[in-house]
Amino acid sequence: MKEKALLLYSGGLDTSVMIKWLQEEKGYDVVTLTLDVGQEKNDLTAISQKAELLGAVKSITHDCTSKFAETFISMGIMSNGMYSDKYPLSTSLARPLMAELAVRYAHENACGVIVHGSTGKGNDQVRFEVSIKALDDSIKVIAPVREMNMNREEEIEYAIRKGIDIPYGGKYSVDENLWGRSVEGSFIENIGNSVPVDAYRWVKPLDDATDTPEEVAITYENGIPSALNGKKMSLKSLIIKINKLAGMHGIGAIDMIEDRVVGIKSHEFYECPAAITIIEGHKYLESAVLSKRELKVKKYIDEQFSEMVYGGLWHDPLMGYICQFEQTMNEPVSGTVHLKLYKGNIVHSGLESNNSLYDHAASTYGRGQTFDQKMSPGFIYVYGASTVASRKIRNKQFQEISLEE
Ligand code: ARG
Repeated sequence: MKEKALLLYSGGLDTSVMIKWLQEEKGYDVVTLTLDVGQEKNDLTAISQKAELLGAVKSITHDCTSKFAETFISMGIMSNGMYSDKYPLSTSLARPLMAELAVRYAHENACGVIVHGSTGKGNDQVRFEVSIKALDDSIKVIAPVREMNMNREEEIEYAIRKGIDIPYGGKYSVDENLWGRSVEGSFIENIGNSVPVDAYRWVKPLDDATDTPEEVAITYENGIPSALNGKKMSLKSLIIKINKLAGMHGIGAIDMIEDRVVGIKSHEFYECPAAITIIEGHKYLESAVLSKRELKVKKYIDEQFSEMVYGGLWHDPLMGYICQFEQTMNEPVSGTVHLKLYKGNIVHSGLESNNSLYDHAASTYGRGQTFDQKMSPGFIYVYGASTVASRKIRNKQFQEISLEE
């Protein structure tokens, strides 16, 4: 009996070529796994039929969009997950879920090998392989694109030779899911170019963005969005709706020169309208309900979360502790945030929360204020004592940079 390999199969050129290659060059029986994580074109039945036509002994499809939203994206929201403060980790967050399902189906189908379509230059190979190995170190991983070292032209030739129909993928390399769309390659590779309009799909380029501003109200419960404009809905539906809404207003286009895990800088274009809007609202709500010290510590942990997710370390035990921290810190993050969307901007338009630490009576300059201003001079005396003392001793040194003429 032949050994079985489980292939993460998207239906695109790379992974279609792999079905043949694994059978013919490596002698495996191929089981394909196609996952729906909310990508736009996802006719799972057609993809599965194509796999079988190319000789797969079994083709599995699995819609994990809700799981992706509820377990992975929700952690991304609670942690304000952004790599380098710019990229909401859309591709990064989906990979550990895909790895988990690949391991599960490999076990169920007695496959000792998992095959993925990533290249040897990107982050995805790292994410898939660290996760798969962390879940089951005995599984062998094969990355044919990396191993064959084929370029796109060679792949197309191989496909033609083997009678594989070549899907029209456009000129860019695109990865899509509910949380965003990553686009790279072609003109985007030249950092001297601005991102061409034909790379946009989810976000209206600013010139075409809707002329009238629009207000949305997002309700968060323990950090997770639960209603849009007062209407309760699943996180998945809410994200789909905000992707459309915010995209129309030109929000969520991200042009980024990115530092990959493998040390390469790359120029990537992202479209993440819902992610950008939801995280903006989440941060605004946090600023009202968390204390200054909590915000500071949380910001540091948020950054560690983002670095680890980007770097493929979702299945590291530390990630579990970070997620526990994030969940605890999000317990008071409940309330409704109003945001105005207009021409690429998100403008705060108020918030309501029962947990807000904002005390109007303490901050007001108006009547009825409760803050005892007479306490401030004593505070300033103690707070400034060290500065006043050291300035007396080192006065000479500072005279040189003084503003006095
Ligand atoms: N650079 C992004 C990341 O590492 C996206 C990678 C996939 N992008 C693509 N266009 N195929 O998460």
